[in-house]
Amino acid sequence: MILREMRARGWRNLASVALQPGPGATVLFGQNGQGKTNLLEAAYTALCFRSFRTSSLSDLVAWGSQEAMVEAEITVSALDRALKIQISQGRKTTLLDGKGVRRDSSALLGVGAVLFGPEDLRLPKAAAAERRRFLDRAVFGAHRPYFREVLTFERVLKSRNALLRRGPVEATLLASYDEKLAEAGARIVIRRRETVRSLLPRLESTFRQIHSEAAVGMRYRSDARVETAESEAEVLSALREGLLANGEADRRRGFTGFGPQTDDLELELEGHLAREHASQGQLRSLVLALKVAEMEYLREVLGEPPLLLLDDVASELDEERRRRLFEAMAALSCQSLVTVTERDHLPPLAGCVDYEVKHGTVRRL
Ligand SMILES: Nc1ncnc2c1ncn2[C@@H]1O[C@H](COP(=O)(O)OP(=O)(O)OP(=O)(O)O)[C@@H](O)[C@H]1O
Ligand SMILES: [Mg+2]
Repeated sequence: MILREMRARGWRNLASVALQPGPGATVLFGQNGQGKTNLLEAAYTALCFRSFRTSSLSDLVAWGSQEAMVEAEITVSALDRALKIQISQGRKTTLLDGKGVRRDSSALLGVGAVLFGPEDLRLPKAAAAERRRFLDRAVFGAHRPYFREVLTFERVLKSRNALLRRGPVEATLLASYDEKLAEAGARIVIRRRETVRSLLPRLESTFRQIHSEAAVGMRYRSDARVETAESEAEVLSALREGLLANGEADRRRGFTGFGPQTDDLELELEGHLAREHASQGQLRSLVLALKVAEMEYLREVLGEPPLLLLDDVASELDEERRRRLFEAMAALSCQSLVTVTERDHLPPLAGCVDYEVKHGTVRRL
């Protein structure tokens, strides 16, 4: 897809801005705290219907105000469309061509964004929750209804945990939640596994291109009994059994300690866990390769490349890896919004459009 224009008003510190990105890279250049990440967040929210920084709508609205809005004019599947997200009095409205639209609507097929920020560079050593979030974003990027599947799972998990927290629970009452939780959980495990399976060959080839022949691996890790289960039905019964077997422990600790909410995405280099054995440089190449793999995967599934949002990544990479990243972006012919504080942190980018970001306003250079 292509983002032709984005307008935002009252979005965090953004007063009233309009951005006309180029077909390739658009550089958003400015000092710290001027609104660069806020612009990327507005673009991401317009396309994915949620922020990558917060789940609270009030964070997105300018302090002291009740309203924020972002509009994106896009071209997707050769059609010009307008997306609008309006936040008013703590409520969010999402519109496609002026009509209400849900984030998993099939009309949004092909609409997508991939964020690559400094936190991603710490992914291999981060908490497992961060890696699950990375994976979940990739799943959602390829399959928008996934968000509803995750919501369903989270809702049941929350109720089960609330029950456990309240004190002594009857085993039969607890078990009444297990079936729904196992069902929703199996769906998530299968989706995540499929995505890992699709990403892996791309990760291998990209790592080879940007770093070396060193063998990389990536595995979705669950509890041993779930791992041996293959089909969704088998995963479902493994989860069902696991929940039952862990029921006593759950009652003792007061929360659900078994299921996909504890799974991990393991990254390996030369057969060893990357987070424990890889060097800093190898870890950075690994993340770079993972992000490029995600882009390639989404481009294939969506039929066109998603918008790439590169937040402050250039300054965290050395010159060689920076060059590799921009080469890979050019090869994917994706459109990108790139934030930087130092303009010379970027290699020359053919046909790029430059904006200066200052005090929540933008000016085309
Ligand atoms: N709800 C809000 N209302 C008003 N201002 C806000 C709100 N939320 C955040 N801000 C302000 O927006 C400013 C710009 O934030 P942003 O993260 O976009 O900066 P940035 O240009 O990306 O800086 P850096 O280069 O340090 O990453 C910050 O100074 C922050 O205090
Ligand atoms: Mg920033």
